[in-house]
Amino acid sequence: MAGDGTVKLIDEKGIRLDGRKADELRPVSIKIGVIKNANGSAEIRMGKNIIIAAVYGPRELHPKHRALADRALIQCFYRMSTFSVNDRKSPAPSRREKEISMVISNSLSSVVLTEKYPRTTIDVYLQVLQADGGTRTASLTAASVALADAGIPMKGLIASVAAGLINDQVVLDLFDIEDQKGSGDLPLGYCPVLDEISLLQLDGVFTVKQFEDSLNIAIKGAKDLYEIQRDALKQKYTDIRAEVEVPEKPKAEEPKVEPKVVPKPVLKVEKPKTEEPKPSEDDKREVE
Ligand code: CDP
Repeated sequence: MAGDGTVKLIDEKGIRLDGRKADELRPVSIKIGVIKNANGSAEIRMGKNIIIAAVYGPRELHPKHRALADRALIQCFYRMSTFSVNDRKSPAPSRREKEISMVISNSLSSVVLTEKYPRTTIDVYLQVLQADGGTRTASLTAASVALADAGIPMKGLIASVAAGLINDQVVLDLFDIEDQKGSGDLPLGYCPVLDEISLLQLDGVFTVKQFEDSLNIAIKGAKDLYEIQRDALKQKYTDIRAEVEVPEKPKAEEPKVEPKVVPKPVLKVEKPKTEEPKPSEDDKREVE
């Protein structure tokens, strides 16, 4: 929720409380395939946020009357763990969690080829293990990668990040204190492949210029996030290849076998007996 903007959150040099510049993302890492029982999964770490996304389906929907005749239903379940924030969060699903689940589901539905799986459900579970502002956007980023990991066809990945206002300055990727004490927050979901916005919310009061700058900085941030999403997916296949490819074993030295000396066959060639020429009568005479 936006504050009144009076707390100093950025200094004269444009450096924020956590040392970032206005247009800088928090450190981000995405890991694929962290939940083995799921059809697809991802873990995102963005600053201090830690969120797991797990995808199950397409599978049969219960109760059946909720099934859509011409496409799959994407159901998102965003939940904050009770231990994810400083003040213990109640385990009961809050209105905020239901709202975030709905906006993430709507955003994903715009890129997933749901018509390929009529009458089914694709369930996306988003569990926040540690929260530090921007969990809805980080959850959407992770959900989109988990869907890709599940092999569900999509028009493109969605990368999501917020921009906002702190001390009247537009900044990218608000962390918790900025989110609480800043004066505005604009979460964005963006599909770089389609150049389409699939989620746009706004909390606070922005001038037209601030709105435009926030939108532009958030789109740029989403494009950078998209590269990290792609790298994470590529890494999965690099790891699989390394696992599958059996490294060539160094050839074991063959025991030295003394070459057998095979005696050469001795060919006895019997000379044909040639008859001694008999001395002729003349020879006899010469000898005499
Ligand atoms: O998380 P996101 O910024 O998308 O949504 P928010 O409703 O603007 O919440 C901002 C932050 O408030 C969360 O990321 C949490 O750090 C914190 N929060 C909390 O401390 N306790 C709650 N019950 C809900 C949110």
